[in-house]
Amino acid sequence: MDVVEAMRSRKSIRAFKPDPVSKQVLEEILEAGCRAPSALNTQPWEFFVIGGDALKQVCEENVKHLKAGAPLELEVAESAFPRDSVYRKRQVELAKQLFRLMGIAREDEEKRTEWTQRGFRHFDAPAAIVIVQDGSLTGPGPLMDIGSLMQSICLAALEYGLGTCIARQGVYYPDVLRKVAGIPKSKKIVIAIAIGTPDWDFPANAVETDREPAEALTTWVGL
Ligand SMILES: Cc1cc2nc3c(=O)[nH]c(=O)nc-3n(C[C@H](O)[C@H](O)[C@H](O)COP(=O)(O)O)c2cc1C
Repeated sequence: MDVVEAMRSRKSIRAFKPDPVSKQVLEEILEAGCRAPSALNTQPWEFFVIGGDALKQVCEENVKHLKAGAPLELEVAESAFPRDSVYRKRQVELAKQLFRLMGIAREDEEKRTEWTQRGFRHFDAPAAIVIVQDGSLTGPGPLMDIGSLMQSICLAALEYGLGTCIARQGVYYPDVLRKVAGIPKSKKIVIAIAIGTPDWDFPANAVETDREPAEALTTWVGL
């Protein structure tokens, strides 16, 4: 697939066919993903790839925690968006679009709850790639590198006919992941990427998120 075409067609997939993704394909995707750039070639990332019964256990325990109202926990900083900002507006627009596609009314608590749980279930994907960084690494630098890695993984997945969703929701209960996947305390859990064959019949997968035109964001200097 042409690189620019891949960048344009990549989108977050929030429902998957149950077909498993082979370990070999996942290995190839991670191998390609690891070609991502990082500051001084530090490559501040490691993976725990979870599937099968282990992923089922993670999803069940996540939902159990969520239902019990267990506090959400992120091991790397979450951004806060000012209330009246354009960032908050874009976030609200995404939620509105997803809920519209899913037929979830504002007051429909049951469907909203089910929708939230889907994220904590890694969108029922057959596999989840959990990205961790060593606990000795601090500051935003490693996260920049992991950002480029995430995109590389999502683009590589397309070549195999697979879809992805990068998701914080998948790592809000780090202790669940630590227990099931054996992630040591010396590693900080950064993010998860759900991966599998997209279920194109699932309404939310029709989402088309907007982008600000680059023209509106760019100041040209000397050109
Ligand atoms: C760091 C990061 C965290 C994300 N976390 C979630 C998440 O928890 N749940 C979710 O449904 N989507 C999540 N997403 C997906 C974004 O909502 C999505 O990328 C954005 O709306 C743009 O849509 P697109 O990926 O379809 O182009 C996350 C994306 C990133 C980059």
